[in-house]
Amino acid sequence: MTKSISNGKFITLEGVDGCGKSTQADKLVEKLFETDISAVTVREPGGDHISESIRKLLLHAEESMSDRAEALLMIASRAQLTDKVILPHIINGKWVVADRYADSTLAYQGGGRGLSVNALEEINNFGTYTLKPDITFFIDIPVEKANERMSVSRDRIEREGANFQQRVRDQYLAMNTKEPERVILINGEQSIDKVFEDIWSIMKEKFSL
Ligand code: TYD
Repeated sequence: MTKSISNGKFITLEGVDGCGKSTQADKLVEKLFETDISAVTVREPGGDHISESIRKLLLHAEESMSDRAEALLMIASRAQLTDKVILPHIINGKWVVADRYADSTLAYQGGGRGLSVNALEEINNFGTYTLKPDITFFIDIPVEKANERMSVSRDRIEREGANFQQRVRDQYLAMNTKEPERVILINGEQSIDKVFEDIWSIMKEKFSL
């Protein structure tokens, strides 16, 4: 059975480092395929050649990077990915599942680094042609739990520590309060399968699958 979907959809997964969103992104694409929906995953920062070069700079730069340079590079990487990968797929009717998107910049550079969330929202809008996700799953987990799950080799941002990650989580929680229809909070402390069950039941309802 093939569902006739003329326009693609845009689904994003968000949360602190170690929350398990990458596993859920993979599961979601697999499940969409089983449902006869053509879907692709993208990851941020990164996703195409130029964005991956920016990712290397962002996550592995040796010298100290200014907070604003970090924010602008995150958004530059997103601009490239949105223009060259995400939008063409959506226009072609594909469903795009993004492992992080614009909300990550609000959470990390806004909440974490303390930059103006309003300013970041405007620059995000410019960088993304104002493309907004149809739905965002915020996989919420206490910072200590996420920390236990994180790999030993940490990138520049993962090394920021628990207070930073707590500010990131608080900013995500604020986004869920501000936009509860779009930013859906999922309890990330549950098993992988239960987290996915929650995500899929919301997907079914939202998109009549
Ligand atoms: P991610 O790819 O999720 O980490 P991993 O490689 O461990 O799966 O994200 C890399 C880091 O970049 C992560 O610590 C979050 C951070 N980040 C920001 O600070 N701002 C952003 O806008 C984005 C997209 C990511």
